[in-house]
Amino acid sequence: MRIRYILLIAFALLFGSFMVFYGGYYLINPDMRGEEILANYGIPYPAVIAHRGSSIKAPESTASAYELARDTGSDYLEADVQRTRDGELIIFHDENLTRTSNVEEVFPDRAHLKVGDFTYEELKKLDFGSWFNEESRYASPEYEGEEILTLRELIQIAKEGDHTPGLILESKHPEKYPGIEAEIIEVLEEENWLDNPDLANLPQIEDIEKEFAPTIFFSFSPASLRSFKDLRPEIPRLLLINDNMIGRRNWQGWLERATEDDLAQGLGPKGFMSWPWHIAAAHEKELFVFPYTINELWQVKALARIHSSGYITDRPDVILEFLDRLPELPELPELVEESTH
Ligand code: G3P
Ligand code: CA
Repeated sequence: MRIRYILLIAFALLFGSFMVFYGGYYLINPDMRGEEILANYGIPYPAVIAHRGSSIKAPESTASAYELARDTGSDYLEADVQRTRDGELIIFHDENLTRTSNVEEVFPDRAHLKVGDFTYEELKKLDFGSWFNEESRYASPEYEGEEILTLRELIQIAKEGDHTPGLILESKHPEKYPGIEAEIIEVLEEENWLDNPDLANLPQIEDIEKEFAPTIFFSFSPASLRSFKDLRPEIPRLLLINDNMIGRRNWQGWLERATEDDLAQGLGPKGFMSWPWHIAAAHEKELFVFPYTINELWQVKALARIHSSGYITDRPDVILEFLDRLPELPELPELVEESTH
């Protein structure tokens, strides 16, 4: 019994010293290559990516959340793309509609069906904002009745503001939607988003020659990334990594998977995997790293110290403020003091 305790303490001491030594090394001498790697692809550094829009302050994946993220100055709007039964590409995260809509009231018998089992007209009957008002301190009457958002509408939102963010599109549950990658690209082309010189010349990137990359594709599915690569190899791709995936294959294994046949140029790990040495190992292979979902200031500060390539966040305003990049507010008219005469 005593031997076991001694061994346990020895192991804890050894592991602790290793962490302090190795972590300390990177805190003193952090890996700086994230910026260079992003510059190769025309991606601003560090990239602030609004996850489902400004989804702490407005209902996720709705027009309000994306408009807010755009007007806050986010570099990219992140959006999950799925397909309705009749073929419309929509922005929606979950597999079914119960968490973020009133589907149980409107279609009580079909409430637990998948989002792709509904037609676009049916989804238009649902309210995607009122659930948020019941739960959030940012509730607002303007969120009542938020409608399902299409990919085409998201593109318009990105184009319409004073600041034009890029789009990071995730093929969500792509195994359920064969061919969705080609359809996403078709919509982007029809809406004049791809190959648009006005977007490539946006002033998002200073001091580098490369043009701005207005589009990035994301997926947890290597097969889906492969389809994007076959269709438009020049558009940067990022392989997302969740808990299950890191259980099946270690970090080094995913680095190899991502670089095999140029499958992806970046990795999107869950925040807890973003150890300095993981980021450094990714940089060794010329991969950028965008951890998700980074919502707390302490996380941003820790990741900034190790030069994270970017931040996928529900709170782009918090990160932009930390980076001192919030857009300037319009000047207020000077106050004229009232005359006392
Ligand atoms: O941005 C990464 C993230 O979008 C992946 O997770 O579940 O929010 O789509 P999820
Ligand atoms: Ca997503």
